[in-house]
Amino acid sequence: MSINTDSLLQHGFLNKEVDATIDLFAAIEQLKKEKNAIVLAHFYQEPDIQDVADFIGDSLGLAQKAQSTDADMIVFAGVHFMAETAKILNPSKKVLLPDLKAGCSLADSAPRDLFKAFKEKHSDNLVISYINCTADIKALSDIICTSSNAEKIIESVPADQPILFAPDKNLGAYLNKKTGRNMLLWNGACMVHEIFSLEKIVKLKIRHPEAEVLAHPECEEALLQAADFVGSTTQILKYAVQSPKQVFIVATETGILHQMQKDAPHKTFIPAPPNNNCACNDCPHMKLNTLEKLYLCMKYELPEITMDETLRLAAKKPMDRMLDISRAAGLIG
Ligand code: 13P
Ligand code: SF4
Repeated sequence: MSINTDSLLQHGFLNKEVDATIDLFAAIEQLKKEKNAIVLAHFYQEPDIQDVADFIGDSLGLAQKAQSTDADMIVFAGVHFMAETAKILNPSKKVLLPDLKAGCSLADSAPRDLFKAFKEKHSDNLVISYINCTADIKALSDIICTSSNAEKIIESVPADQPILFAPDKNLGAYLNKKTGRNMLLWNGACMVHEIFSLEKIVKLKIRHPEAEVLAHPECEEALLQAADFVGSTTQILKYAVQSPKQVFIVATETGILHQMQKDAPHKTFIPAPPNNNCACNDCPHMKLNTLEKLYLCMKYELPEITMDETLRLAAKKPMDRMLDISRAAGLIG
């Protein structure tokens, strides 16, 4: 098999470049040992990747794991901003992303120059950015948050301090309601969480009156109002496992259903339907990663995430603030 590494750096790997007779699970385990590598996977990854991962988590859990690992190589089965976050927090490690094109519509909704101009226009505001943003945006922020610690982060800021929240307007509006703040919101959104159909969810509730609706706070306000529980992916998973209820309508990316089904096999999990007949509740960016690409990326140690040191240090500052506040609030160890 010959691999064009230049093209890999630009475009990531192609599944067809893998010999179909290879047992990829065994081969990945072998590569982990040989290279002292750890595979970190987000809940939105395909089931095979979740099954081969050493750690599966939400953005906060993954950031923490990336920071604390003593592995030499971090293979990040997630999207670009997540792998970038791992590099920001643990720069001496080789950080790999199976497909360099695995981006994020939310991160893309905040281009650096536009955001910088917006920030300058509102210079009296403290900038809190959701972790789903590029290193450039992190570097322009005062504190980072994730969906599992955002409330605590906001509460740590004095009530009279104006806040600019970016890039997710849905999460921002939800947090404004929860905290009673009036944060100025950047107009960004996640293409997956905006696609759910409230009408179809209401119809599902009529068919399954006993079902609870679980939603991620990146969803739109009307859907969040109809939800029985709102939380990050880890929080939704925990809630579903611990709840005495047996049926759940899950309004977040479908990848989370794999762990739900594993952790509570006797319960029923129904993916919330999108507002048309596409599979738009699958994140097209997350799903660019495949087991084949994961294997090739570990074998060839490409594509690698690299970062300018000045940018990294500027992006690390608000990340450190987030981790300190989360620790003080008892959200992480
Ligand atoms: P969490 O896993 O932190 O809830 O984030 C969800 C998400 O959209 C990641 O891209
Ligand atoms: Fe980005 Fe949404 Fe995909 Fe998460 S689910 S990576 S926020 S596009």
